[in-house]
Amino acid sequence: MRILKLGGSVVTDKDRPFTPATGNIMRLADEIESSGPQPLVVVHGGGSYGHPVAKEHSISGGLKRRDQLAGFSRTHQAMVELNRIIVDALLDAGVPAFSLSTSTFVTTTARRVTELDASIVRALLGHGMVPVLYGDAVLDTQQGFAILSGDQLVAMLAHTLRAERIVMGCDVDGVYTADPKLARDARLIPRLSLRELDGMVRIGEALNTDVTGGMLGKVREATGAVEAGVEVVIVNAGEPGRVGAALRGEKVMGTVLIL
Ligand code: IPE
Repeated sequence: MRILKLGGSVVTDKDRPFTPATGNIMRLADEIESSGPQPLVVVHGGGSYGHPVAKEHSISGGLKRRDQLAGFSRTHQAMVELNRIIVDALLDAGVPAFSLSTSTFVTTTARRVTELDASIVRALLGHGMVPVLYGDAVLDTQQGFAILSGDQLVAMLAHTLRAERIVMGCDVDGVYTADPKLARDARLIPRLSLRELDGMVRIGEALNTDVTGGMLGKVREATGAVEAGVEVVIVNAGEPGRVGAALRGEKVMGTVLIL
């Protein structure tokens, strides 16, 4: 059982609102199709669909004014739109994909998942289908609503479904010693020990960067899964072949998280 996260920066053009990265989506659909028959769940991020809408209506901070309610729904609708494009591409590539709205079976409390009913996901997998979920605008028992990231969802699902491997597809080659887009001497870390992570954070702060380009949050979310024995590998999904190889369990350029 494998879980693949496709980052929003891979499946959308981050700089243009509501613009899918069609070439990437179609190529990744083919890579998924040829990655073997083992059970798979796909989770995608928001990119230029969910994020700008959530920001415009301040959804992640929770429900404070009634006029945010439509924004909560519009954020979800943006994700439904992107999800449709991705599921259609998977179907066209021959993958028996099935769209599931995360907000219908997951709720959070203070932005952390506290309820996740995986029964439909399990049943779909039992039929040999590939459930396709996404980071979503979800109901939150404390703050009314919240934004649930695909990264947190992936970690929770891996735990619940006892996944063997998580493949995190993002737009850099893996975890670096510094943000590779800013620091020239940034080095790729092929195996990242979570115990050494605190030292890394200091390196990042010293360089006044986001450590690894937003990567730190991703790694932190995955910690629980790694501790539960799930293999977690971070690869560049923008580079042809890497997601496919990682899904097949082959050695591939990227970062493997270890305890
Ligand atoms: C965010 O999901 C979903 C919404 C904004 C509704 P992610 O946080 O996983 O998205 P990316 O991968 O960073 O774009």
